[in-house]
Amino acid sequence: MDASVPNPEALKRALQEQARTPGIYLDHNATTPLRSEVRAAMAPYLEAAFGNPESLHRYGQQARVAVERARAACAKVLNCSPGEIVFTSGGTEANNLALRGLAWARRETSKRIACSAIEHACVRETVRALEAQGFTSTWIAPNAEGQVPAEAVAAVIEGGASVCALMLANNETGVVQPVAEAAAACRGRGVPLHVDAVQAPGKLPLDVEALGCATLAMGAHKFGGPKGAGLLYIRRGVAVIPQLTGGHQEGGMRCGTHDVAGVVGLAEALRLAEAERPASTVRLRTLRDQLELGICAKVPDAVVHGRRADRVANTSFISFPGLRGEVLVRAMDVEGLAVSTGAACSEGTSTPSHVLEAMGVAPDLAAAGVRFSLGASTTALEIRQAVEAVALVSGRLRQPRHD
Ligand SMILES: Cc1ncc(COP(=O)(O)O)c(C=O)c1O
Repeated sequence: MDASVPNPEALKRALQEQARTPGIYLDHNATTPLRSEVRAAMAPYLEAAFGNPESLHRYGQQARVAVERARAACAKVLNCSPGEIVFTSGGTEANNLALRGLAWARRETSKRIACSAIEHACVRETVRALEAQGFTSTWIAPNAEGQVPAEAVAAVIEGGASVCALMLANNETGVVQPVAEAAAACRGRGVPLHVDAVQAPGKLPLDVEALGCATLAMGAHKFGGPKGAGLLYIRRGVAVIPQLTGGHQEGGMRCGTHDVAGVVGLAEALRLAEAERPASTVRLRTLRDQLELGICAKVPDAVVHGRRADRVANTSFISFPGLRGEVLVRAMDVEGLAVSTGAACSEGTSTPSHVLEAMGVAPDLAAAGVRFSLGASTTALEIRQAVEAVALVSGRLRQPRHD
């Protein structure tokens, strides 16, 4: 591949081809398209309103007002005060800031980190990096349905911990975790609970008072917002050590010039996702159930992971015994169906899902997993076509070869 600047002509041709033969995009947990309303809200800040919010002149003040309005809008959805929100470059940075910041702030109390075994790589690898800096960790296993029981969290933090991490919805299985119960157990033992809520906006309530967590992370591109924008909620009074130096933005918690358009886009996407959540949940659950019923009717030995657990409405992680997830994903792409083997970040590596592994799924079955994640653009027709494509591809790959 040519490593120089992308050729705009080549991209234009590729997009024209894409428009002629539109595919079916069922990988919304990896990322979502930017919503038109969000693009419209961002546009002024990419053009005339280009000021730096730190500047004292009118350009700067215009940008500052936009950032503070966005902060207030996000705080409304989270049911917190605007001062408890720190804008970041996305979910990965927010998770890093929370885990590193809490762990170092509380190192005199405890150097032990409790973390669920099903977290995203940006949480697990941050915990590993802290281990290399003298912290120890305890991993909390999920049950066979992919849910980490709150009692297991309570048992692990019994002797104290600097921080405990439990995500709100798993990105691979969609299984919803008992965050409110875990947070109550943490509070009772004086341990801050960090929640990776990256897969939750538009799918689950985000009221941090009801959740009871100390910190909570999200990234805009998972719900119709721009890539490169996210936030960390930090409950008032919870000590977090900033991880960047060199400025005083975000109350010193995250310095660096704001991506004003990104922050505005994040807030608008979050507002819309929350407003549409009830109707979207009903619609997506119906479509997701149709997808699972259709696939299981055509591929009777297919296994839906976490089927009996409470799951977010848009996600389905299905194993096709005897096949490999990566091979299936590539073959489905040829048929115009975009799906994933699990976490987008682990695409291209052939390590089986750590989530399925932690759930006790046999390695062969874990390596046969394909994640389908629906979104705002998904239609009933697309689901019927996706079922046909899955049946076609899995049937073809299972045929004995005679060469
Ligand atoms: C659960 C979860 N946490 C964190 C991330 C990372 O978020 P971002 O892409 O905003 O850095 C992802 C992205 O796939 C995710 O699914």
